[in-house]
Amino acid sequence: MIVNTELEQKGNQFPSAINSFVKEKDKFLITTENDVLLQITVVRDSVLRFRYAPNGSFPKDFSYAISEDAVRGYNHLEYSEEKDRYIIKTSKLQLHLNKANLQKTIYDIDGKLINQDEAGFHWEYSYEHGSDIVKMSKAEQKMECYYGLGDKPMHFNLKGKRVENWVTDQYAFGKDQDPLYKAIPFYIGLHSDISYGIFFDNTFRTFFDFGDERRSVMSYWAQGGEMNYYFIYGPEMNQVVTNYTDLTGKPELPPLWALGYHQSKWSYYPESNVREIAQKFRDLKIPCDAIYLDIDYMDEFRCFTWNKEYFPDPKGMVDDLTEQGFQTVAIIDPGIKIDKDYDIYREALEKDYFCKRADGPLMRGKVWPGECNFPDFTNPEVRAWWSGLYKELIEDIGVKGVWNDMNEPAVMEVPTKTFPLDVRHNYDGNPCSHSKAHNIYGMQMAKATYEGVKQFVYPKRPFIITRAAYAGTQRYSSSWTGDNVASWEHLWIANQQVQRMAISGMSFIGTDIGGFAEQPTGELFVRWIQLGIFHPFCRTHSSGDHGDQEPWAFDENVTNIVRKFIELRYKMLPYLYTAFYQYVEEGTPMVQPLVLFDQKDHQTYYRTDEFMFGKQILVCPILEPNSKGRRMYIPRGKWYNYWTHDVVQGGKEVWVDADIDSIPLFVKEGAIIPKYPVQQYVGEKEIEEVELEVYYKEGKEKSVLYEDANDGYDYKKGRFSYRTFKLTGHKNQLIIQQHKEGSYVTPYTKFKLDLKRLPFEIKTIEVDNQETSLSKLKVNGNTSLEVDKNFTELHLIGK
Ligand code: NOJ
Repeated sequence: MIVNTELEQKGNQFPSAINSFVKEKDKFLITTENDVLLQITVVRDSVLRFRYAPNGSFPKDFSYAISEDAVRGYNHLEYSEEKDRYIIKTSKLQLHLNKANLQKTIYDIDGKLINQDEAGFHWEYSYEHGSDIVKMSKAEQKMECYYGLGDKPMHFNLKGKRVENWVTDQYAFGKDQDPLYKAIPFYIGLHSDISYGIFFDNTFRTFFDFGDERRSVMSYWAQGGEMNYYFIYGPEMNQVVTNYTDLTGKPELPPLWALGYHQSKWSYYPESNVREIAQKFRDLKIPCDAIYLDIDYMDEFRCFTWNKEYFPDPKGMVDDLTEQGFQTVAIIDPGIKIDKDYDIYREALEKDYFCKRADGPLMRGKVWPGECNFPDFTNPEVRAWWSGLYKELIEDIGVKGVWNDMNEPAVMEVPTKTFPLDVRHNYDGNPCSHSKAHNIYGMQMAKATYEGVKQFVYPKRPFIITRAAYAGTQRYSSSWTGDNVASWEHLWIANQQVQRMAISGMSFIGTDIGGFAEQPTGELFVRWIQLGIFHPFCRTHSSGDHGDQEPWAFDENVTNIVRKFIELRYKMLPYLYTAFYQYVEEGTPMVQPLVLFDQKDHQTYYRTDEFMFGKQILVCPILEPNSKGRRMYIPRGKWYNYWTHDVVQGGKEVWVDADIDSIPLFVKEGAIIPKYPVQQYVGEKEIEEVELEVYYKEGKEKSVLYEDANDGYDYKKGRFSYRTFKLTGHKNQLIIQQHKEGSYVTPYTKFKLDLKRLPFEIKTIEVDNQETSLSKLKVNGNTSLEVDKNFTELHLIGK
């Protein structure tokens, strides 16, 4: 039977008719007359897994991406047989499987079409790769849009595009350049207001084509390995992302300082320079929590060593920085310098920890230290060894965070920029070539680093940052988007990348603020800081080749504006930390593109610039020089301009003023935004009062505030404070109900309510049903009041 003539002529093969269909607990095993095997696993009511084997047998089931903690189990499962199909039903989905050709159609429980195979599974033997290229094609639905796929610099909506996943060191990448540093083979489809996701868990080089090759056809394929994918149903895009994040894992909470402002450069050295930078932050009163040591702190780039000329007393320096409120983050690369006098090199050599070519010799490549060998991080024994190497750096010297770079793995002076593909890897006991291990090499390095740092920084929390990543890396590390450029175009790209990474499960992400290559103008730096403070990871980094990029490197006006925005970041820390908690608990992306925020509003499908920071703050960066403001789309609902408190009705484009010292910023009506006082670093002050900005709404809105000890693991034992505020506004009344969970006692005693546009002057106040005098609560007309943090119901009544 011919399924698709065009594909058939190109050498593709297809499954033939089904000859057996067997259910085994949560799995269905289906075979065809031409020996194709399909296994369908019902992971959850809304998550189905599909594995196909073209010739009758599956390899061992192993995945680096899928989290052990992923929720499994369903409420309902039934199947039936009809003349031409089998039907599998859960409480959320119906899967129809065509008996003649194994093609699938997935409907929701009401029979609405969600996703449909075009040719479905097919494969082609590649004589070039010596393996089957496994492929899947789907019919594009009417008006279907596509999102996700991690680290891509192009337009947010991927319709009409083709992308590739092959972790690559791309210095100064361009706007449509692909692939970049990360491989996250997960996309989200959206049509008819229904959203679903597909995670193709295959670590070989993979491709996704969204109607570029063939009109109205979406397809994906891999240059080896299995057709192994998860179908994740929404119907809300947020549910797709949270389900995907649950499947591939959530991180632990980082220490709160990791959400502060970080300063980096390639490189701050010698020690006196590091100290100078730190002192300048304190002198100029610009908040900062971390300083980075790039490769020049090492002795000729040997990992885990120090250049004693530049840094004669690392512990002394790190201790002094800690004293001033700075955490030190040091870079560690994968390449180990070939040097018989270098103990780490000798040990790895003796223990046979380095990657080898297929025919035996060690894999050798040039990186910063010159010729290097590379640990095989896919070997659990090597990872354990690597973890142990952090003892001195973390436990003895006091470095608090580790930055893993060049772990694509990047190799210099070769056109492929990486290892030859024949290099062998352990792959956790499933030996394979680099073709299969390449995309997860950096992830496994980050895992080993995470485990080491975690062990030695205990009882504090670890902080890791990695450049390379595969799906699931969020369990171990934060990340940045690599070597960008100081250009306005890259500011636009930065915004795309962070939003895209957030909906691809990796929210803890930022860009090199100001650009890594080349030098930003003061204006560009300001605009980048204004965006960067709304990214979960907020670090300025630059190559240092073209000048300095500290907040004072431009002119005084720039310094003052940058200070103002970094201060805003510090004020918003409790709001950001709460968003992080929601990410950790629910998998909710910390940054949300408008299409995720309101997928029923079709105006959002092609929006790229506006995004939600957390659940209640709308941000839109200024992306052009000499701007006094910009046009932007305000999503449906009512919003307060953060600066003027003017209320705007959304669902339309508006002009927003934003001179150089401002950025378009809106707060959702009804929101209660918690704020801390400005600190020069996390923990500088004991927080005595938390401000709650209350954005009046006639109607209801829920807000939350998560807090804990800002570090350590007590929060896992219930020592956290989780407050839910329910706001109900009427014309002449405002009610705020508070519900608190967790046993952590916050150090402050009071909330200062900052009331935005309360439409009445307060006459009476009831706290927990008791009328309380206005003077006791320091009521100021209709703008502010102070109240004990433990109130359960606050009732403001107007004159
Ligand atoms: C490349 C990284 O992307 C960059 O951030 C770093 O500064 C250099 N390597 C030097 O370590």
